[in-house]
Amino acid sequence: MLDLLITNATLPDGRTGMSVAVQDGCIAEVTPGLDAPAHDKLDAQGLLLSPHFVDPHFHMDATLSYGLPRVNQSGTLLEGIALWGELKPLLTADALIERALAYCDWAVAKGLLAVRSHVDTSDPSLLAVDALLEVRRKVAPYLDLQLVAFPQDGVLRSPGGVENLERALDKGVDVVGGIPHFERTMADGAASVKLLCEIAADRGKLVDMHCDESDDPLSRHIETLAFETQRLALQGRVTGSHCTSMHSMDNYYVSKLLPLIAESGVSVVSNPLINITLQGRHDTYPKRRGMTRVPELMAAGVNVAFGHDCVMDPWYGMGSGDMLEVAHMGLHVAQMTSQEGIRQCFEAVTTNAARVMHLENYGLEAGCDASFVLLQARDPVEAIRLRAARLKVFRKGRLLAETPAATASLHLPGRGESTSWMVPKPQD
Ligand code: FE2
Repeated sequence: MLDLLITNATLPDGRTGMSVAVQDGCIAEVTPGLDAPAHDKLDAQGLLLSPHFVDPHFHMDATLSYGLPRVNQSGTLLEGIALWGELKPLLTADALIERALAYCDWAVAKGLLAVRSHVDTSDPSLLAVDALLEVRRKVAPYLDLQLVAFPQDGVLRSPGGVENLERALDKGVDVVGGIPHFERTMADGAASVKLLCEIAADRGKLVDMHCDESDDPLSRHIETLAFETQRLALQGRVTGSHCTSMHSMDNYYVSKLLPLIAESGVSVVSNPLINITLQGRHDTYPKRRGMTRVPELMAAGVNVAFGHDCVMDPWYGMGSGDMLEVAHMGLHVAQMTSQEGIRQCFEAVTTNAARVMHLENYGLEAGCDASFVLLQARDPVEAIRLRAARLKVFRKGRLLAETPAATASLHLPGRGESTSWMVPKPQD
């Protein structure tokens, strides 16, 4: 007897009428039209069953702090960093944990079951590190939280930066972070990349650096990151986050850079909601979009994922943990409006993001964890268009969250009563 059998599901790769059999928290079988005895059965009615959403770039130590102690007036990255600096002395572990747990509730409701969060290691008390390690422990039964040691104030620029980062790693933080464009000089930025990659290689850790989050076309730390990745044999273990300066770079230089990134196996995480709001702030018109070159990176064979980055914090006042909103913005900013492009944007918040995090047993195949989302949509394109309701969210076979279907009841003169969920009739 199976624990759970889902029938008549559509999968992201387009297969329809699929059954997914679940036993002991794992997917036992994915096959068309299977019917078998099961404790629980769910008829998906042709709707989309997707592996859960993954956010490969977030800041959980700052989330839900919007307005504390004040709102970012200029909307720039630099005022956000200054504002975070004003907030840090006021942080308490209890309040930080409470906000992070509240965000994780939002995430689970949206089918987001794995988050890579940077945690600021600049404060020698490591209060935020200890608090997020506690959050990681508390949410472990329902959400994979991976932590990155992030020296927000610059690992070389701030006193004790290297020591604090290493102490955070000693405490159990998973990934080595960095912020080379915020160091005092380009040379210091490059030196920080080299140093941090060496720390990661020594400790057997993954790397994920904020890299070139700037409109400066000469901010080229991604080049150093790719080079150090190869030198230290870290291929497949390194991520460059943001890489917004690539938007403004000279095309000839980018033609040389793309193959270097691809050869090094460095993944790139773009954060569309944040990049479109924080970048281009020094421009008049035309105003740059400031998101990295997503389709070009993908075409070059680079693993590209989308992150949420911020929700209601010193940098961004919007957001609800909805990775479909992230994908929706990504496809607009990158103009990835072809059917293939839209599907790639869906992969950027699912499979590509899982690859960034090195998630094990992720996917909709036999042997994978039974961690998936039933969406009120018939395919990934419709899911993004509607930011579709997450009807049911399962983790390892257990139902974690349910959301009612979004439908409008219409009472139209001359038309009687009807309902709509904003989808056209299926094409013949
Ligand atoms: Fe970030």
